[in-house]
Amino acid sequence: MSASNEIVFGQTAGLGGAGSLGETEWPNPAHRMFDTVDPVPGASKPDPILVASDVSRSFGGIRAVSVERLEVQRGAITALIGPNGAGKTTFFNLLTGFDKPDSGNVLFDGETASGQASYKLASKGMVRTFQLTKVLARMTVLDNMMLAGQQQSGESMFRGFIRMWGGQEASVREKALEILGQFNMTHMSGEFAGSLSGGQRKLLEMARAMMAEPRLIMLDEPMAGVNPALTQSLLGHVKRLRSEGISVVFVEHDMDVVRDISDWVVVMAEGEIIAEGTSDMIGSNQAVIDAYLGSSHASLTEQILTGHIPDVEEVEAGLAETAELEVAEIAALEAQTGPIEQIGEPSDD
Ligand SMILES: Nc1ncnc2c1ncn2[C@@H]1O[C@H](COP(=O)(O)OP(=O)(O)OP(=O)(O)O)[C@@H](O)[C@H]1O
Ligand SMILES: [Mg+2]
Repeated sequence: MSASNEIVFGQTAGLGGAGSLGETEWPNPAHRMFDTVDPVPGASKPDPILVASDVSRSFGGIRAVSVERLEVQRGAITALIGPNGAGKTTFFNLLTGFDKPDSGNVLFDGETASGQASYKLASKGMVRTFQLTKVLARMTVLDNMMLAGQQQSGESMFRGFIRMWGGQEASVREKALEILGQFNMTHMSGEFAGSLSGGQRKLLEMARAMMAEPRLIMLDEPMAGVNPALTQSLLGHVKRLRSEGISVVFVEHDMDVVRDISDWVVVMAEGEIIAEGTSDMIGSNQAVIDAYLGSSHASLTEQILTGHIPDVEEVEAGLAETAELEVAEIAALEAQTGPIEQIGEPSDD
């Protein structure tokens, strides 16, 4: 734990920084774009590509999302973060048309996004990827790309298949190969997608999304379960997309990733947006700290409410574990700073 009142930024520190595709450092067109933006929930942006107003969604009486306003800046990378159950996925689904809000609306470049079929939105320039990748395992990497190309040009998957097998695919193939090249995946084009590693599938999913030539790409936990080396490569590609003028929104739990690539961070808790700002501002925002702390208390309360009442042994074991961690932390600190004097109740002896 850091001594100051800050959110701890993950366990993968050191992976961040400019290191992306080899030595490539992609220029950031969003640099300074947020200089004039007020770091408050619902803040106006200079040039929003996506706008959500009064969007709410309930499940069986529980309000999962209740967002007054969100503007997503064009050409920048925006992270959507928040504790478990905050409503991120639900909100993401509402933003990408996969779910319809009970009230309110989402505008993508001035057009209603909510409730539109994904391939229709893609043909208009908004694509999303999934937390669980949806590559077709028994098709080759190239065929996956080409099918995405057909689908996202405004066709359903079924029509995409028909057309692909109809032989009108030369231009689509060319485009697929070009994009695979940009993602350094040319050598994999003949492999079955099912034989790729989890991280390579994520890469393929991102490459597939590019077949639609999107202006906005929405990534759902793009780095989840990806090994550190490939994470760097994925992060590099996201930065490359930004340098090409593509807007990016992503949901992510790893705060190192958030800090590395996002220009702007939006924090949700209990269905609402409770903070917006750069990652530095967010790390010291009291409402955000409270929300993250509150969520761990809430989970204990929830356990008790749902009938799981920890017994004395369990509680003691938990306390012992905490004490052990503290001892280890103090030892680590002492190694750096010298002996630390314990301040507290005077002991009996
Ligand atoms: N289909 C559903 N039916 C009922 N409740 C749902 C449904 N989807 C989400 N919820 C509830 O809505 C709230 C927000 O869930 P959501 O999955 O959006 O949170 P999240 O921020 O994505 O969490 P995590 O970080 O754990 O993925 C939770 O209380 C969840 O139980
Ligand atoms: Mg989620």
